[in-house]
Amino acid sequence: MTRAPACGILALPMDFSDRPTLPSVPLRRVVTELPGPKARAWMARGGFDMQSRYRAVVMDDIASRGCSLVDVDGNVFLDLFANFALGALGYNHPALVEVAHREAFIRAVANPTSTPFVTTPAWFEFVEALEQRFAPRGMARVFCVDAGGEGVESAIKAAFIRHGERRREAAGLPRNPLDLPEELQKSILDNAGTDAVVVSFAGAFHGRGLGPMSATHSKVIHKADLPAFPWPTAPFPASRFPLARFADENDRAEAEALAALERILDAHDGRVAAVIVEPVQSEGGDRHASPAFFRRAQELAGKAGAALILDEVQTGMGITGTLWAHEQLELPRPPDLMCFGKKMQMGGFFATSAYDVAQFGRMYQTRNGDRARSAIALATLRAIESEDLLGNVRATGRHFLSRIEELCERYPALASEPRGRGFLLAFDLPTTAARDDFLSRALRRGVFASYTGTRSVRLRPHLITTVSDVDEAIGVFDAVLREMAG
Ligand SMILES: Cc1ncc(COP(=O)(O)O)c(C=O)c1O
Repeated sequence: MTRAPACGILALPMDFSDRPTLPSVPLRRVVTELPGPKARAWMARGGFDMQSRYRAVVMDDIASRGCSLVDVDGNVFLDLFANFALGALGYNHPALVEVAHREAFIRAVANPTSTPFVTTPAWFEFVEALEQRFAPRGMARVFCVDAGGEGVESAIKAAFIRHGERRREAAGLPRNPLDLPEELQKSILDNAGTDAVVVSFAGAFHGRGLGPMSATHSKVIHKADLPAFPWPTAPFPASRFPLARFADENDRAEAEALAALERILDAHDGRVAAVIVEPVQSEGGDRHASPAFFRRAQELAGKAGAALILDEVQTGMGITGTLWAHEQLELPRPPDLMCFGKKMQMGGFFATSAYDVAQFGRMYQTRNGDRARSAIALATLRAIESEDLLGNVRATGRHFLSRIEELCERYPALASEPRGRGFLLAFDLPTTAARDDFLSRALRRGVFASYTGTRSVRLRPHLITTVSDVDEAIGVFDAVLREMAG
């Protein structure tokens, strides 16, 4: 049998070397009604897709550049939304486009593998780079899946597995479930489950799978009609801003939340597999708590023998000004598990060695680590480092927050609660309707911001966003608020 000739894919006309000379785009420019006629025509064709009803933009992703998202009608939006914090380096960053043209990337896309069993050298380089440079301090293992919510689901599983093993050992039973008596193994197959619980916080969002959903409490619409585990929920303090004005109120809220957490842990003594928390509750309305709150929560979880799971799906990968937001919490020891997603281009978690799940068949997914996405993740991490994007996020983020604070002072009846870390920024409008009105007026002026919680404006700029981009956005926000103030 003769072998097929090499496909010559690289010889195809895919030379993007002209990319740097492509015309630059303005930061923002709206030239049609929104959506424009071409976007509307595409949207009308896409109705087969269940999610077609809430699509906002049909993007021209060749023309889009940096923080400027260009749509098919030639409208240009200064993008402070970044696809719900998925975007890190802006559109068509040369480092990512270059990686996507490499032979190894093309082959990784063309030859999907079940990575735990079959992979290529590039995968080992990726995990080595994570281990040596990018993993949070003290975390000895990584587990990769496709999406953020799957990473959370997997971390919760790892916590339950370790908890179950410890409980069996304490009861004089074998640690390995395959060594259990046959009738106990049968009851496992028949959904015996466990009475162990995960403690989460009011307002949290941890993903939409049926596991994480039981730890998610941000919106009724996410959970209605779905089965849920009877896991306890602790109150979340949700600091008021500016902090200096609300110091007493915030201290009280934190003390009450921690007391409630302690009561819950006591009431479920020996049955708490994990306490899961976001460093900033993002989907639930950009709700913050102080570093001291997290330190005490970690202490309480540790005392209860529970894993502390930090969900950094949205807060990770530099948006708060450190690679992982929890670096700013000064925890005395690493979290037991830390979930990632979004800007990492894949979901997953880092774990301390105590939560390493080694036994075959316990934690597994066919793909478990997509090599193409890992190449983009690594290039993103390297660009964050080489371009000092963390420094940019810290400095430009401070500027952005101070300018939002000015707006809140100028329009106190409309804008309030300016808050954030780095580029994870938000402020409130008085009602959901006012917030939505604000967002659509800003969009019509070419600034794409987003919503969170019931009445908050969520800002998630790409990490490359500059001070002049910020000033441009603030100019638009100012004009919109002035218009709304009437
Ligand atoms: C904190 C947090 N956890 C989990 C998820 C779920 O991630 P994904 O939608 O990629 O599954 C999200 C998504 O917004 C999130 O913000």
